[in-house]
Amino acid sequence: MKIVMLGAPGAGKGTQAKMLSEKYGIPHISTGDIFRMNIKNNTELGKKAKGYMDAGQLVPDELVVDLVVDRIKAKDCMQGFILDGFPRTIPQAEALDYALNNQNEKIDYAINVDVPDEHIVERMSGRRACSDCGATYHVVTIPSKKEGICDVCGGTLVLREDDKPETVKKRLEVYHEQTKPLIDYYNKKENLLKVDGTQGIQVVFEEITKVLG
Ligand code: AP5
Ligand code: MG
Repeated sequence: MKIVMLGAPGAGKGTQAKMLSEKYGIPHISTGDIFRMNIKNNTELGKKAKGYMDAGQLVPDELVVDLVVDRIKAKDCMQGFILDGFPRTIPQAEALDYALNNQNEKIDYAINVDVPDEHIVERMSGRRACSDCGATYHVVTIPSKKEGICDVCGGTLVLREDDKPETVKKRLEVYHEQTKPLIDYYNKKENLLKVDGTQGIQVVFEEITKVLG
C-alpha cells in the first residue's frame, strides 16, 4: 500500500503515519525528519535545508525530489510506504507520479488530515520532540511519562525550532499557497481520503483504517 499524508503543519500527519506504519508493516518516510537528522549531523544537505526550515519556508524541490524517489526504490518499500510531508508542491507530486508510473505503480491513498488553522498554533506550541529519536509528544494531549524525557529512548525533549508561533504562522501561509492545491490534485485522481483531524488521535486512526482495511 502506497500512501501520502496531506495536511497543514501540526495536523497530525506524523502521529498517524507512525501508527499506520506499525499496523501495515510499511516504512514511514518523513522528509522533515530526514532534514532534521541531516541538520543534527551537520551534513551538506542539512546545511542547505536549515535556513529554509527555520524561516518556515519550503526547502527547494530539487533538494527533496531525488532524495524521496531514491528512498522509495529501497528494498523495504517493496510492499509500500507512507510518505509524510512529501509531496508538498505540485511539481513534487508530478515527479513522484512520474517515478511511480515508470514502475507501473501509483499512490493508493492520499490521506488529508484536516485541521483548521485556529487549532494549529496551540498544538504546535505544546508539541515536544525527542532530539535523539524524533518521537513526538504533546504537553497536554500526549505527555511523556517523565517531563522532558523521551519514553522511547531516554533522550531530551525539545520544542522544535520552527514551532515558535511566528514561524508557525509563516508555515501555515506557505501551506495554503503551495501545499493545499495538492488536495485537489489527488481528488481528481480519485484516491483522496479526507479525515477530520480535530478528533482524538485514536478516532482519527480508526476512521483511516476503516477505509484502508
Ligand atoms: P515537517 O517536519 O513535515 O513539518 P510539517 O508539515 O510542518 O508538519 P509537522 O511535522 O509540524 O506536523 P504533523 O502534521 O506531522 O503533526 P504531528 O503528528 O507532529 O517539515 C518541516 C519543514 O521541513 C518544512 O517547513 C519545510 O521547510 C521542510 N520540508 C519537509 N518536507 C519538505 C518537502 N517535501 N518540500 C520542501 N520542504 C520540506 O502533531 C502535531 C502535534 O499535535 C503533536 O504534539 C501531536 O502530539 C499533537 N496531535 C497529533 N494529532 C492530534 C490529535 N488528533 N488531537 C490532539 N493532538 C494531536
Ligand atoms: Mg511531522
